[in-house]
Amino acid sequence: MKMKLTVNGHEHDVDVSPWKRLLDVLREDLRLTGTKEGCGEGECGACSVRLDGEVVNSCLVAVGQCSGRSVTTIEGLGAGEVLHAVQRELVRCGGAQCGICTPGIAVCASYVVDNELLKGKDEATARAAVRELLAGNICRCTGYQLIVDAVIAAAREVES
Ligand code: FES
Ligand code: FES
Repeated sequence: MKMKLTVNGHEHDVDVSPWKRLLDVLREDLRLTGTKEGCGEGECGACSVRLDGEVVNSCLVAVGQCSGRSVTTIEGLGAGEVLHAVQRELVRCGGAQCGICTPGIAVCASYVVDNELLKGKDEATARAAVRELLAGNICRCTGYQLIVDAVIAAAREVES
């Protein structure tokens, strides 16, 4: 099926089965390999992308559902050479983990920051909220303390 897919602000013509997973279209057809596959079952969040602004697991989305809609991947989170506040703070706070889990974490965290979901929340409430909002993004290797630090720092930066 021929369809138009807008990814990171660029329109692409793709000719694939409408049932092909968005994850595979991104990685195989568009060569955007920043989006990773972990579980392939909607459990780990490694494949997170934003679809019309919402966070989705691209391993669970058929590309046919994305026709005429806007997809943002980790490659499109920042603007050119300028990183998204979340990416910057993940680096600064030491919250960047491996290349499998970090892209999904950054994409999900960008949703939290862009929508100012922590606005007006005190530190403890914000920390609890970040943990809940990122509950679908799993790292098998470490704690989440520095990731939470980074998301809160990015949120405060954007809200100020
Ligand atoms: S690969 Fe999609 S949620 Fe794990
Ligand atoms: S899964 Fe990426 S560092 Fe743990």
